[in-house]
Amino acid sequence: MSKVSIQNVGKVFERAASPVPALDNVNLSIEDNEFITLVGASGCGKSTLLRILAGLEYRTSGEVLCDGKSINSPGADRAMVFQHYSLYPWLSVIDNIKFSRQLQVNRENLTSSDVEAASGRADALLNLIGLGKVRNAFPNQLSGGMQQRVAIARSLMGRPSVLLMDEPFGALDSQTREVMHDLILHIHRVEKTTIVFVTHDVEEAVYLGQRVVLMQPRPGRIHSIFPVPLPAQRTQDMKYSTPFRELRAEILARIRESTGITTDLDMLDKLNVQSTAV
Ligand SMILES: Nc1ncnc2c1ncn2[C@@H]1O[C@H](COP(=O)(O)OP(=O)(O)O)[C@@H](O)[C@H]1O
Ligand SMILES: [Mg+2]
Repeated sequence: MSKVSIQNVGKVFERAASPVPALDNVNLSIEDNEFITLVGASGCGKSTLLRILAGLEYRTSGEVLCDGKSINSPGADRAMVFQHYSLYPWLSVIDNIKFSRQLQVNRENLTSSDVEAASGRADALLNLIGLGKVRNAFPNQLSGGMQQRVAIARSLMGRPSVLLMDEPFGALDSQTREVMHDLILHIHRVEKTTIVFVTHDVEEAVYLGQRVVLMQPRPGRIHSIFPVPLPAQRTQDMKYSTPFRELRAEILARIRESTGITTDLDMLDKLNVQSTAV
């Protein structure tokens, strides 16, 4: 059985003026422990699909199963990481990681050994993300990359079986992103979670994904699915290899084709039209 099964999913946003068909007939099976990346131009429904998987948004048609069960609300089996790491500024790094677990402890009247186990887990995650030294620092004392690492650790606290990430490294500089790429691959190996990772960056999608799902806009749907022909253990130098460059070029060409943008000048034209329309 697939970990996640997306069957004929459609989503229409009802708006006063005109309905927006955000997703149309999306079908995708994601295997246990797979690292899958969703890539595509802005507006092709990537975030909407991820939010449906998280249970934060309702689908208007179709079915989504996680471990065979229909997804209709958020659940501890699925954790989400956003681009903007919303850490609590008044809590230290370690308390941010423990926070949601602490809520659960308070709610469920757990015993002191449960609380200790949670503390052990938080420390293990802190070491996994390489931030043991800043355990007691506050978020505003950390760089953006470090804050995002804390947000990732926090999302892993409840041992989710599926980790959903929406452009999590989009706000980081390119060197920090490379470090984060190798870190998230390491986390994927150690924690054995299934990861669904949304990005508009084709290079990032190919470097991280075992399969890359290319989406296309208006309405948002799957264009094609590419298996990535690289060894499971990725290293940065693979970005210069022929299979990597060929797949990246292929996906970029398909994106340009499906959005009608073939050159940078077309892109400029589109932007001009949009700004005169405003
Ligand atoms: N809450 C909303 N209300 C109305 N339209 C929305 C809403 N969220 C997204 N959309 C529309 O749905 C489409 C897909 O959006 P989104 O999933 O955010 O795309 P992506 O993440 O690929 O950029 C876009 O046309 C967007 O404008
Ligand atoms: Mg988005």
